[in-house]
Amino acid sequence: MIVTCWSVKGGSGTTVVAAALSLLLARRCPHGALAVDLGGDLPAALGLAEPPGPGLVEWLAVGPEVAPDALDRLAVEAGPGLRLVSRGAGPLPEGGGERLLAAVDRGPSGAVVVDAGPSSGLAIEVAGAATLSLLVLRPCYLALRRALAAPLRPSAVVLIDEPHRSLDAADVEEVLGVPVRAVVPYDPAIARCVDAGLLSARLPRPLLAALRSAA
Ligand SMILES: Nc1ncnc2c1ncn2[C@@H]1O[C@H](COP(=O)(O)OP(=O)(O)OP(=O)(O)O)[C@@H](O)[C@H]1O
Ligand SMILES: [Mg+2]
Repeated sequence: MIVTCWSVKGGSGTTVVAAALSLLLARRCPHGALAVDLGGDLPAALGLAEPPGPGLVEWLAVGPEVAPDALDRLAVEAGPGLRLVSRGAGPLPEGGGERLLAAVDRGPSGAVVVDAGPSSGLAIEVAGAATLSLLVLRPCYLALRRALAAPLRPSAVVLIDEPHRSLDAADVEEVLGVPVRAVVPYDPAIARCVDAGLLSARLPRPLLAALRSAA
């Protein structure tokens, strides 16, 4: 299973959702999980130091002639049952999404979670070809407009339930025509846990409970 988390606006909570989902799937899948970072924040969100050496950018730059297991060999340990392919340095190319998904699909992990970040060309390509594409969205009118105009409809939405908003899950479902698969509470305790680098050590219960049914 390949799950891609993406957004249409910066700071939506995509990395936090991708990190929590990868931790959850690593516990659940007998063959563990692989997290793939297109945005650059996933190691820090998982409480890791920046992995040294090449990452996804460098792997994509080599092209199709790269050894079949080369991407897997770039992965670092990121927790019990969880491995991580970091973003690497420099800009991400536009293409290569299908090649990336084929490479992770061949790998040993039972589940793959891609943090694709805001909707770049590569993010849309990876989201479009994944088993499950989850748009992480705040109940914000401007974000909803962008989601409607995006070149891809997600399989489902993960809604970050900020308080005092007038839009809710039913509005999002009606406008986008896709289900809201999870409603994650907006909880300052989640942000503090990320800030302290403790997400993987103490995955907050409300986050875990909300995402259990998301993938
Ligand atoms: N459910 C939540 N409750 C409270 N704060 C949250 C929640 N989810 C994320 N945050 C906080 O919101 C901020 C943005 O989160 P995050 O980095 O995951 O967003 P992003 O969509 O990945 O951003 P970017 O577009 O920069 O990649 C962070 O400070 C994070 O700790
Ligand atoms: Mg991010």
